[in-house]
Amino acid sequence: MNTVCVTNQKGGCGKTTTAVNLSWSLTELGKTVLLVDLDPQGHASLALGFDTDLLDRTVRDSLVRPPLAVSDLFLPFSDKLDVVPANISLASLEQELAGEPERELRLRQALADLGRPYDYVIVDCPPSLGFLTINALVAADEAIIPVETSSFSVHGLERLLETIEMVERNTGRRILVRVLATDFHGQTRYAREFLESLSERFGEQLFETVIHHSVVAKDAAARGLPVGRAHRHSKLDNDYMALSTEIVESAPVVEVENLRKWEEKLFGPSVRGEEVIFRLHAPGARKVQLAGRFNDWDPQQGEMKRDPISGVWTIRVRVAKGSHQYRYIVDGEWIEDPANEVHEYGETGFRNSVVLVGDQ
Ligand SMILES: Nc1ncnc2c1ncn2[C@@H]1O[C@H](COP(=O)(O)OP(=O)(O)OP(=O)(O)O)[C@@H](O)[C@H]1O
Ligand SMILES: [Mg+2]
Repeated sequence: MNTVCVTNQKGGCGKTTTAVNLSWSLTELGKTVLLVDLDPQGHASLALGFDTDLLDRTVRDSLVRPPLAVSDLFLPFSDKLDVVPANISLASLEQELAGEPERELRLRQALADLGRPYDYVIVDCPPSLGFLTINALVAADEAIIPVETSSFSVHGLERLLETIEMVERNTGRRILVRVLATDFHGQTRYAREFLESLSERFGEQLFETVIHHSVVAKDAAARGLPVGRAHRHSKLDNDYMALSTEIVESAPVVEVENLRKWEEKLFGPSVRGEEVIFRLHAPGARKVQLAGRFNDWDPQQGEMKRDPISGVWTIRVRVAKGSHQYRYIVDGEWIEDPANEVHEYGETGFRNSVVLVGDQ
């Protein structure tokens, strides 16, 4: 799954038009897509025909505590495209959550468990660099920055890039950032020169695809349809098809199977000399402990720490050479290590996970 946020604090540069039509054209390429409307204006929801005034469940419900699962919130638009809608109720959320811990991680946590595998999650951001946009960036693998070529302005772009770098530093993750030229009037010389200067500044970070100015953008949105449905094969539809092809080809989605194999290597016990690092992926858990022979099966001696972003719980333990049985205690429930295939039956008759330390 690739999470792509469409962001720029400048208003009206084509974020929503891009989020909606990119989502649709990705489904035309056979991809499954979840479009998350993260703007209190609810424009992405409206552009796909959902009456935001009538919604009693919105993206807001996945960001408050206790959260509703995203799978309880989305509205299906087609068999490949679901929408998590937003409305004005999102506007007050930043103030309500002021001072709460980890509030920038809420969207990332909500998207960690979708109940259905999507190829892409597309997030439409509001025109600000506030709490909602930070949530989107923390969740994102990629960021698309639409720049309206008709306004000849990159005002604020450096600040946006600085914000992205700040998020990268704080999360330790890279975000693939690319600029998209939108609302391009190809017949005007200034527009062509502006595009050239964008290309000089951003090089390969500028999408080859250019989104042209077209009257069908407004018309399709007003009818609550993606351009590909309202005006199939129009120039704008072709532009967004080209954009989605560029995205699919340049950033291959990690196959779930490969991801699992990779994750298996990441989790479970890893032995470094006489120290073992135990890692368990349990993003929804409130408390995770480790118990084994090495700590007299006493969970209180094995409190694990949660990484707020990945939901991975970790503990380092010094253990003697030999074979050691252990279990995790997740919110009071004793479980085997799902990432470790080595087991043994313990004295009490239960099957425990086993870690070998030293040259066995
Ligand atoms: N390629 C285009 N050609 C013509 N009009 C466009 C194009 N792209 C967007 N528009 C129109 O420009 C207006 C602003 O676009 P859009 O809503 O996508 O911007 P936005 O960045 O999401 O705005 P906001 O910052 O308010 O969220 C809309 O009326 C939209 O229909
Ligand atoms: Mg918008």
